[in-house]
Amino acid sequence: MCQRASALYLGASSTYISRAMHGFSYRNGSLYCEDVELAALAGEYGTPLYVYSAATILDHYRRLDTALAGVDHEVAYAVKANSNLAVLRLLAVEGAGFDIVSGGELFRVIQAGGDPAHCTFAGVGKTRREIVYALEQGIYSFNVESEEELRYINEVAGELAVIAPVAVRVNPNVDAKTHKYISTGKSENKFGVDITDIAGLYARASKELPNIRLRGLQMHIGSQLTSIAPFIEAVDKVAPLARQLKECHGIEFWSIGGGIGIIYKEALASGSAHWWENQAEPERPLTIEQYGAELVPRLKDLGLKILVEPGRFIVGNAGVLLTRCLYAKQGAAKTFRIVDAGMNDLIRPALYEGHHEIVPLLQPATDARIVMDVVGPICESGDFFCQNRELPDFKPGDYIALMSAGAYGFAMASNYNSRPLPAEVLVDGATACVVRQRQSLRDLIAGEC
Ligand code: LLP
Repeated sequence: MCQRASALYLGASSTYISRAMHGFSYRNGSLYCEDVELAALAGEYGTPLYVYSAATILDHYRRLDTALAGVDHEVAYAVKANSNLAVLRLLAVEGAGFDIVSGGELFRVIQAGGDPAHCTFAGVGKTRREIVYALEQGIYSFNVESEEELRYINEVAGELAVIAPVAVRVNPNVDAKTHKYISTGKSENKFGVDITDIAGLYARASKELPNIRLRGLQMHIGSQLTSIAPFIEAVDKVAPLARQLKECHGIEFWSIGGGIGIIYKEALASGSAHWWENQAEPERPLTIEQYGAELVPRLKDLGLKILVEPGRFIVGNAGVLLTRCLYAKQGAAKTFRIVDAGMNDLIRPALYEGHHEIVPLLQPATDARIVMDVVGPICESGDFFCQNRELPDFKPGDYIALMSAGAYGFAMASNYNSRPLPAEVLVDGATACVVRQRQSLRDLIAGEC
């Protein structure tokens, strides 16, 4: 399945990491992922097709690791963002830990060669089967979301005659100022335990729950945060509690969660190391260096191991979804381009009105643009990738790329409308590997009778 894309190789050396490139750029008018031409991949493997840049994933991981160098830390990649085995493998070899939210994600990490002892298990609704599996595999910690769950894990651990390592998730009641569906750190959200109840809960647990080891404290206030202020507010608010829990209960780690936002707009601004760095307002979020510079001084004297759980930051801008235009339709009120990817392949625009840049794989000869809706084949009006956007005109048969689709893209794809899941390709320099085959029609009905 892995092949050297020699026909596509331009002979340029793969210096993406040292040049800190994001891995997607035009060469002679054709869009490349590292040293592989995307139009050639689309032609060879068909569309819709997810393509990921290994160099970009590793670069983002390393940049975050470096930004936190001033404090004892571990980067636990949030598997939910992109759980392809090849992506997990890349990060496992690099030394990442993993933040998981299901038995299925733990299974994937193990299959990819990851170490359960570096896995934290989050989520408000862990089942008995998942708790048993995680205990058997020896995970680093359960991130517990309620007293009821804590008591249940204690019970299950007792039955297995093991001690369950846990951290309770604190809900600090901080506004992450992000989309309401991905904001998690406010009192009205279902996540975590109110900050005012945590100390009492740890005290009760240490007295009443003999099969629990209070190993840490966890928080996560939301996803796609584009400003440093909510991170600072949450860390400042919770740090005294973390210190107190260390003194009273000997906790050893504090996970400050994920949530670092990425740039979705102007994804191909030229000449920039990371495309956001040369951006004018409005979308100019925190850089990872700023994240480290602001948070490390606040964390380093606590004497705790600091965990971070980034998903989107690692993989978001490292992936694209390639799709082909099927029809150009002139409606009574609008101009449509109908493409072969749908909301089942990438649901972010439909679900969060998420913005993904749309660029042609082959740059057009003129700068002419038209206002259009790019839509998929699904039988819903919510099945769009953009509305009323000015884009270079493209015609049936042309390929386009939906940028920044590496996080919560394939991971949220479904078989809705009985559409087979797309294939996934991982590019590393001049090598392109199919890391997940496109589903067949037979796959669609597997397990049914
Ligand atoms: N830790 C916890 C406990 C989480 O719930 C999440 C994400 C993360 C870490 C990773 O967050 P990140 O670094 O990726 O922001 N599907 C949505 C995002 C859902 C995020 C869910 N939790 C989207 O496409 O925007």
